[in-house]
Amino acid sequence: MPSNTLPPLSCLCLLLAAAALGCAEEPPSQPEGWDRAVALRPARDLDDRPEVVEVDLTAKVADVEIVPGTATPAWTYDGGIPGPLLRARAGDRVIVHFRNELAAPTTIHWHGVRLQAAMDGAPGHSQPETPPGGSFTYDFVVPDAGLFWYHPHVDSAVQSGNGLYGALLVDDPGEPADLGDELVLVLSDIDVREDGALGDPASGGNLGTVFGREGSHLLVNGRVNPVIEARAGLRQRWRVVNAAKSRYYQLALADHRFTRIGGDGGLMERPVEADMLLVAPGERADVLVAPRGAPGATLSVRWVPYDRGYGSTFARPEVEAFRIHLAEAPEAEDQPLPEIARSIQALDPAAARRVDLQLTQREGPGDLEMGINGVPSWEAEPLVAAVGDTEVWTVENTMAFDHPFHLHGFFFQVLGDDGLPVRPMEWKDTVNVPVDGATRFVVRYDNRPGMWMFHCHILDHAEAGMMGMLNVTQ
Ligand code: C2O
Ligand code: CU
Ligand code: CU
Repeated sequence: MPSNTLPPLSCLCLLLAAAALGCAEEPPSQPEGWDRAVALRPARDLDDRPEVVEVDLTAKVADVEIVPGTATPAWTYDGGIPGPLLRARAGDRVIVHFRNELAAPTTIHWHGVRLQAAMDGAPGHSQPETPPGGSFTYDFVVPDAGLFWYHPHVDSAVQSGNGLYGALLVDDPGEPADLGDELVLVLSDIDVREDGALGDPASGGNLGTVFGREGSHLLVNGRVNPVIEARAGLRQRWRVVNAAKSRYYQLALADHRFTRIGGDGGLMERPVEADMLLVAPGERADVLVAPRGAPGATLSVRWVPYDRGYGSTFARPEVEAFRIHLAEAPEAEDQPLPEIARSIQALDPAAARRVDLQLTQREGPGDLEMGINGVPSWEAEPLVAAVGDTEVWTVENTMAFDHPFHLHGFFFQVLGDDGLPVRPMEWKDTVNVPVDGATRFVVRYDNRPGMWMFHCHILDHAEAGMMGMLNVTQ
């Protein structure tokens, strides 16, 4: 019957209405060019194989604009602060042809990457320093997803403080889609005078060293107080690294909460909510936030002083780190958060060997010496462990300042008062050790023998001696 070959008229109407709705209701998106003010320059991949990222990277002095209208001769990777964004997928091979065009020797350390010791950039252990005019090829596999970063390991307070650092983002193709529109945020600071010249890296003498020198200008991806455009209500995923040589970053966004989903070594077991985001020097954070407000409003993401010890919050105002300008479009509807769960195997502290460290300082005539177990790095004997060992480290702080403690090459699990890994679990390579407190973690050495450094990531402290070596033997 002819009437059965055509759908009834009412059905057709519904179909047409649905099609029209489909066209009108595109999924909400960020405004065109929303991240232009902070977008990082991607490194150019010279190898067309998908599983190999091969780049050239040059350290050199280049003019950057920090104080408006003046040029600062900063120390840069490829001419900018921060250096280019390196991006790979877990399991990829990364090859970096590094050239040193600075007037000083340097190396590159790949903070957090579980690579071979020979590629770790530790001068005298991994490789000789790369002299001015010299070059070195780094060639390693990135086994883990997460946000990593690179910086020099020679005279690091000066070299990083002058602008040498960059991000290495390793994607996990298997992680949930739709976590949010991604921004990689390299937070740092730099000391620049009004005339544009770099500040004195030894300013304040011993007192400057013990406090840890903070720069005069906060930088977000190398920019002072940039403005990100956003669609209200639409979730963003911030991949944050604190690359400052001493400054702790504590960020607040009024009337908003952050959902932290990951840290140094990729995703956590499950997300945690927080009002403020604290990232100590060297640490990373992976957070979700949905900026909300009236269309056209500007939100202020503020740096809030964090009390890291004696006098560190005294008379210090909050500073605007960056702004979020909301587009004129109406607030986007809530998007359900995809399930974020990672299974992390707890390391067993029970069978572990113990390592006890104290973070110390030694007063005397001349320069202040900081150290570990009473001796500065240049007098210390390396710790010794073997491949396959599990150890519990207790790092005790004897000073009136916090210290962000970092171990090269291996991730660890921080232990709570009950001696078990803190929940939700996460893999870390840098952890804050509070004033007069102690931090304990459990670590297992997988099959990568060699000399590995550990140190305070307040780089003024590291260079003053708060650094040591771990020899993992085969
Ligand atoms: Cu970012 Cu030796 O470290
Ligand atoms: Cu490191
Ligand atoms: Cu320190």
